[in-house]
Amino acid sequence: MKLAVIVGSTRQNRVTLKEAKWVVKTAQEIDGVEATLVDLMDYPLPFFDEPASPRYNPDRKIDADVKKWLDAIEPYDAYVFVTPEYNHSIAGVLKNAIDYITSELNRKPSAVVSHGSMGGARAAMHLKEILSESRSVVIPQAVPFLGVHEGIDEDGNLAEAMKANPHHPGNHLVGLLEELKWYSDALSAARNK
Ligand SMILES: Cc1cc2nc3c(=O)[nH]c(=O)nc-3n(C[C@H](O)[C@H](O)[C@H](O)COP(=O)(O)O)c2cc1C
Repeated sequence: MKLAVIVGSTRQNRVTLKEAKWVVKTAQEIDGVEATLVDLMDYPLPFFDEPASPRYNPDRKIDADVKKWLDAIEPYDAYVFVTPEYNHSIAGVLKNAIDYITSELNRKPSAVVSHGSMGGARAAMHLKEILSESRSVVIPQAVPFLGVHEGIDEDGNLAEAMKANPHHPGNHLVGLLEELKWYSDALSAARNK
């Protein structure tokens, strides 16, 4: 499974980056997974202002910056979107980036890893809906991470205190990634038929 782990915040001092690094590190330990960090910071995009929905615009003209973003996400089999919760939803920068997507996620699985005072659960629910409308197959499981500031270090290592609590949602990441791989293998085979 070629997996893109998307960093859903570009704010100064963002913690989403270290959470995404933790996802990449964990994924790389699973057999058959090749994980890559895709940071929205590297793909600055204007606010979406195209004349029609990209999905229904056969004459679409794509700016170079937009093409760079779409080309960056297209080659993967599966996606983990790592998102903060801003005002009970995802950050505007992530929603804007998703609004540009047409077929890049079609029939490919995605999963959500979030953080916030309630693990970012409300943002995760919104994001699942958004990804579903973007034609991705969103898997039921998610990882809402409580206490991410102290729970993961800058290099993406999970704190010992988190590991010690088997009920902490952060401990469910391996299960999420294994499930994502199951969907990825199944959907890749079906797409290739
Ligand atoms: C504009 C803004 C709105 C926020 N709204 C929420 C919220 O609704 N619920 C929540 O749990 N945390 C909220 N927070 C706190 C964020 O979860 C926290 O700042 C987190 O570190 C954001 O991720 P980031 O550092 O990667 O941007 C908000 C933070 C910001 C900057």
